[in-house]
Amino acid sequence: MAILKIARMGHPVLMGIAEPVGDPTSPEIARLINDMVDTMADAPGIGLAAPQVHVAKRVVIYMVPEERTSDGEDHPLTVLINPEITILDDTVEEGGEGCLSLPGMTGVVARPTRIRVQALDHLGQELDYEAEGFHARVIQHECDHLDGILYPMRMSDLGQFGYVEEMTQVQE
Ligand code: NI
Repeated sequence: MAILKIARMGHPVLMGIAEPVGDPTSPEIARLINDMVDTMADAPGIGLAAPQVHVAKRVVIYMVPEERTSDGEDHPLTVLINPEITILDDTVEEGGEGCLSLPGMTGVVARPTRIRVQALDHLGQELDYEAEGFHARVIQHECDHLDGILYPMRMSDLGQFGYVEEMTQVQE
């Protein structure tokens, strides 16, 4: 087990296009995934992309807590390798996001509500499923990391960006 250092906004590894994985079942990728799982659990976080641990490869992991799913389904730890996202319709919804690469901060981002995800898992098996709501948001947020995009770059109103501790203050 290894807890990896998380890159924060501004580090060049977060700004580039990550490389596709050639062999999802290689020992190198297995070790990376195990270390990402440990790192995400320690943080704690609900999603993590390989560039956030300084590895420019197209690997993300996520685990949506049951209380935050709108479809009432349980989403266990999911590994996506070389993921592709297709937006299924024009519906967009706003929601608050945070990121382990911007610790302590949060912002409101509008994202498509329904997506299709195609990827390989850690066994090299094909995944193909639809996601909606918060689940879809998490996947889009994590996959954005593979293309050098951090959530503030998706925001239309930076007035809705700030430190979590400050934004919960009540104005006197
Ligand atoms: Ni993030």
